Amino acid sequence: MTNNDSRMHLDRSAPHTIQVPAHPIWPALNDADKAALRDRVKQLLREQNAVLVAHYYVDGDLQELAEETGGCVADSLEMARFGTTTDADTLVVCGVRFMGETAKILNPEKRVIMPDLDATCSLDEACPADQFSAFCDQHRDRTVVVYANTSAAVKARADWVVTSGIALDIVRHLHERGEKILWAPDRHLGHYVQRTTGADMLLWNGACVVHEEFKSFGLQRLRKLHPDAAVLVHPESPDEVVDQADVVGSTTALIKAVQNLPNKEFIVATDDGIFWKMHQLAPDKKLIAAPTAGEGATCESCAHCPWMAMNALQNLETVLRSGANAIEIDPDTRERAVTSIRRMLDFAAQRQ
Ligand code: 13P
Ligand code: SF4
Repeated sequence: MTNNDSRMHLDRSAPHTIQVPAHPIWPALNDADKAALRDRVKQLLREQNAVLVAHYYVDGDLQELAEETGGCVADSLEMARFGTTTDADTLVVCGVRFMGETAKILNPEKRVIMPDLDATCSLDEACPADQFSAFCDQHRDRTVVVYANTSAAVKARADWVVTSGIALDIVRHLHERGEKILWAPDRHLGHYVQRTTGADMLLWNGACVVHEEFKSFGLQRLRKLHPDAAVLVHPESPDEVVDQADVVGSTTALIKAVQNLPNKEFIVATDDGIFWKMHQLAPDKKLIAAPTAGEGATCESCAHCPWMAMNALQNLETVLRSGANAIEIDPDTRERAVTSIRRMLDFAAQRQ
């Protein structure tokens, strides 16, 4: 990793204050009730020619159901791709709002619904479209690259959209073409990409409330207790945590590491919803959650995204019955946003 900080510029204006909701508490279901609810959801999916498009961070019950019913469980890049390949009429996006918006932008002819439209993301919230647009106006010499975790209106202002799975490749490509980059909204991911590629990047000052809580000192101590464990870190985490990683990557990359590395133990610094898929693919591996706060301290997210937690079997059934929570995107915004998203998908397809 090159540490080329002279090429990293952080927008120093105060970061946005984000209201982080408490984790929703879903009533526990006994086995019989859960089985009946799953059957009803399956029936509704069949009747409506609908598929579930789920992220690795949502509840394991939803991930399981998505797999059993021909949907997908994936990272944000693959979720975006999947929607364009299925012939289902309805995409039920179990994740956060930007994922639903991306699905609708790419598939305007399909109905896209979500269990809860309030499921947002601190990165999306930290990047209001009007302020972001003004920022871009001040730096017109830079290519605008935005993380997928943004609103449709922010994507509409971008030249490129990236996810964590493709960010390094795209920024390296732009850097090789001699382009300077304006990056938003995640400053940690942006700094990781900048350090790795050496690109000249101006960073918006946003952060993920989940990954920002991983603590470097606690991680050092945990590594001493488990010296043979491989450390897996999502690049939305702070530098001092990323620097201790054996593998830094998207959710898919971290899952593959658990499957493929010879280690028996893994310390995992990302949302703990990912453990469901890791356990499924590598049941004999021991997974240890990376520490989020010092002893006795409180944390806002405790390694579990409060917005991802808004997805549950219960509100999935409700939305399938009511048809509510449909994502709509203003046509002009959609037309501009689809260009920057397609650019990413075309680039990823060429790499494959
Ligand atoms: P991935 O694209 O790696 O799944 O990340 C999405 C996300 O929101 C991580 O916090
Ligand atoms: Fe956003 Fe962080 Fe939640 Fe991912 S984990 S959706 S980046 S708040």
